[in-house]
Amino acid sequence: MVEGAMSHMAVSRPAIVPGEIAVQGVSKSYGALHLRKEVVHDCSFTIERAKLTVMVGPSGCGKSTLTRLLAGFEQPTRGKILLDGAPIAGPNRDRLVLFQETALFPWMTTWENILYGPRARGELTRESIAFAEFLLAKVGLHDFRDKYPGQLSGGMQRRAELARAMVNNPKVMILDEPFRGLDAMTRELMWEYYARLYEENRRTNFFVTTDIDEAVFLADRMLVMCNSPTQVRAVIEVDLPRPRKFADLVENDRANDIKKQALSILHAEAMRSFSRGSKAAADFVEAYLKRASHQ
Ligand SMILES: Nc1ncnc2c1ncn2[C@@H]1O[C@H](COP(=O)(O)OP(=O)(O)O)[C@@H](O)[C@H]1O
Ligand SMILES: [Mg+2]
Repeated sequence: MVEGAMSHMAVSRPAIVPGEIAVQGVSKSYGALHLRKEVVHDCSFTIERAKLTVMVGPSGCGKSTLTRLLAGFEQPTRGKILLDGAPIAGPNRDRLVLFQETALFPWMTTWENILYGPRARGELTRESIAFAEFLLAKVGLHDFRDKYPGQLSGGMQRRAELARAMVNNPKVMILDEPFRGLDAMTRELMWEYYARLYEENRRTNFFVTTDIDEAVFLADRMLVMCNSPTQVRAVIEVDLPRPRKFADLVENDRANDIKKQALSILHAEAMRSFSRGSKAAADFVEAYLKRASHQ
């Protein structure tokens, strides 16, 4: 890395210690009496400090439910969730959540959107503005700073949202399928932008997806989930070198091994619930077979 960029980063990186989240024996049920449904069952895992943990599991398995518990929007039925050893009592800016549905304010420009958090808290300091500039450039929107969301493509909007979230510099950044709904080309670009942001600004990140390619490309650690009621089925350390490029990983044997390992677990899970007649699982098996036949 060039020296100029290093010193720029040192100046623009605010001094917040990344957090670590421990999920301990968490269960979550909805509904009353005979309609009661357990979505998460005795689930334990750690979101390690300054690492990118990716949770991958079939749709409907309970990932967003776990995300809402981590965010503090809901409380577990049983078990504990700790941030740096202290129980999570409710939503707090130390944990920032980005959903697929998150949206920019349409009446603000890209730049105003990115600065929204610091401004709302009365923290428009030279440091926060410098960090916003850094993020704006990193997500490739320097030339679009004065445009409104309606003037941006879908991918650009997601990049602006990433910058708008990261400028708040949370102890833990939580992203629940943030790139779902984008076309394949745009998604691959998003992965690279997001991976660069992470690699150059190591924070605790928790990223939820149903997409195994996305998971392997991004993760330091991968939590492979089983079907509802969900639990961690396997933890895979994704020991691939960084910075990562998507094109490099396609040919990488280790990446393909990890992918196969995770896919076989997910496939077994999908078959298990397919036999119970789950539509989501059937869709997953179909997508899996389609993808396998392309390779
Ligand atoms: N508030 C709720 N009340 C009842 N059931 C819910 C509620 N939230 C989620 N569920 C159920 O929990 C299951 C898991 O949902 P979700 O966490 O959204 O899965 P994922 O994000 O992995 O696709 C689904 O079957 C869903 O219907
Ligand atoms: Mg979800």
